[in-house]
Amino acid sequence: MNAKQAAAYKAVGYIQDGMIVGLGTGSTAYWAIHYLAERVAQGLKITTVATSESTTSIAAEKGIKVSSLDSVEYIDIDIDGADEVDSMLNLIKGGGGALLREKIVAAASREFIVIADESKLVDVLGRFPLPVEVLAFGREHTARHLQRLGCRPVLREKDGQVYITDNGHQILDCHFNAIPDPALLAQQINAIPGVVENGLFVGMAKKVIVGYADGSAKELG
Ligand code: 5RP
Repeated sequence: MNAKQAAAYKAVGYIQDGMIVGLGTGSTAYWAIHYLAERVAQGLKITTVATSESTTSIAAEKGIKVSSLDSVEYIDIDIDGADEVDSMLNLIKGGGGALLREKIVAAASREFIVIADESKLVDVLGRFPLPVEVLAFGREHTARHLQRLGCRPVLREKDGQVYITDNGHQILDCHFNAIPDPALLAQQINAIPGVVENGLFVGMAKKVIVGYADGSAKELG
């Protein structure tokens, strides 16, 4: 078992019969879906909600039915990855472009469990460029507002094309290098007209499961 698998496997151990489960996005969350699918095949009964179209497809391929978020009142446990995790369990997310739905699903969850390999642990957030989902309309103006907060915003592209999120928006990856006050920055970014959501998840994760290369996993929080 590699580090991502170890973290995902431990997190899936928290899922019980009858629960409503949030399915994250990314290569670590992939393994959570994989292990969940194994348990579903063995008879576990759960309802799931996905954080992206790609996760919906992966879950369907593995035999997990996905429901819409609005068909459930809340989510028992949401399991998702992260790009960076600090010692307060604040996160940067959105490397996979799903930050908006990921934040909505995490906010609808009674418990938000983050799974990550040890490379994601940092003292200060911000070395990983902070993804900010923005409207296409006036994007350059929005980028200038972001720049005034001390970053270098870079428009995300994929295969030579502007990257478009599941919600039809674009992403500016904001190079801050260091984010000493994530709560303040998250507020400042979301106050900019044209910003849809930012990838700072402040005070949302109560448990982070860290996987290690030797196949072990440790809980923080
Ligand atoms: C997707 C995310 C992912 O959780 C994050 O990018 C981590 O991905 P991975 O597990 O592949 O390293 O936020 O939007």
